[in-house]
Amino acid sequence: MQSLTIQPARAIRGEITVPGDKSISHRAIMFGSIAQGITTVRGFLRGEDNFATLNAFRAMGIGIEDDGEMLRIKGMGLHGLDEPEDVLDCGNSGTSMRLITGLLAGQRFFSVLTGDRYLRKRPMARVIEPLSEMGGCIFGRAGGDKAPLAIVGKELTGATYSSRVASAQVKSAILLAGLYASGETEVREPHLSRDHSERMLRHFGAVVETFDGGVRMQGGRELEGRDIIVPGDISSAAFFLVAATIVPGSELLIRGVGVNPTRTGIIDILIAMGADIELLDLRQASGEPVADLLVRSARLKGIEIGGDLVPRAIDEFPIICVAASLAEGRTVIRDARELRVKETDRIAAMAANLRKGGVQIVETEDGMEITGRETLLGSVAESFGDHRIAMSMLVAGLVADGESEVRDVECISTSFPDFSGLLAKVMLV
Ligand code: S3P
Repeated sequence: MQSLTIQPARAIRGEITVPGDKSISHRAIMFGSIAQGITTVRGFLRGEDNFATLNAFRAMGIGIEDDGEMLRIKGMGLHGLDEPEDVLDCGNSGTSMRLITGLLAGQRFFSVLTGDRYLRKRPMARVIEPLSEMGGCIFGRAGGDKAPLAIVGKELTGATYSSRVASAQVKSAILLAGLYASGETEVREPHLSRDHSERMLRHFGAVVETFDGGVRMQGGRELEGRDIIVPGDISSAAFFLVAATIVPGSELLIRGVGVNPTRTGIIDILIAMGADIELLDLRQASGEPVADLLVRSARLKGIEIGGDLVPRAIDEFPIICVAASLAEGRTVIRDARELRVKETDRIAAMAANLRKGGVQIVETEDGMEITGRETLLGSVAESFGDHRIAMSMLVAGLVADGESEVRDVECISTSFPDFSGLLAKVMLV
């Protein structure tokens, strides 16, 4: 088990680019593999989660060349995948498992998906239930809720499904199955979750209709290979936005970050807390908005966070907890029950870690209340096998009153292999 130590920083300064967006990188492989013809992908995230997806499609016979700069996917059309000879291993990646389950439900073959010990604990009924309503035949442990999952490909029929959770993984799994289903597929969700699948489907030539509260699509139509440029991941940029905000005397430019409005909750939350963040040179790449983000340090104040802001910042709560720990007054997070079923229980994990840093935290069922302080105490934090907990606690270490340590940091390579290298580049000690 590897640990990292981190020293307090004098400032965060300079200019960086962050690695490609994880959600968009997964989708580029998936849609490229089942489209007709060549898809190229630039800016692909070279993290373990995305390689799990890439390897799964290679195992189903898709040719994917990688010259280190660009991927070249030889799409074989909707029915061009081969039955995998072995179990497909999704590693730590919930997106791989849930989306690929949707895609495999409508194939003419049998397949099995598994993952690491963390992923095998995460709920899968949320995708199996709607896919079963479409005619899917999927078995899993724990009464059909946990991986390994066995998928017997079936002919699917389009359905209308109202999801109880605002989840892009659930929505995307249903849309992927919907590509294979007869008739129309419609998904409704309580709040709008990230819409990368809808945007990318359109980019690949699909007719996707979005309306207030949901999305609908016709099945049975082939996609066409396309060129994709993956923007920088705002979820990775988030660690640097908070670092440069909380370390006094900082100024950082983060170039080429995806600013899809379904993902920019972190910017809205930090600005509401008093942060100084500017969006510069707003542009488009492959149907996604992109900008450079300029951030300068600022004194934060506590706020209340809930409702539709939650899915727009769903992966950023660990680092929001760090920002709240340094804010003046109390931050209240509610409507965020989903955090309990992420890579780990992120409410419990951040509460345990930040308490060691001297922060006063009250855990609630669907969130937490955090009372900020001037500095944190240097401490030893645990990642709980969760990349975003590990990176958040390293950022917390920048404003501690001495050295801090984060244990079990290998997980960082699922989404941001060079995180500490990049941090070292902009950190003045
Ligand atoms: C993702 C959706 C979100 C997010 C995850 C990536 C996606 O999960 O937390 O990191 O790529 O669709 P949920 O759909 O479970 O909210």
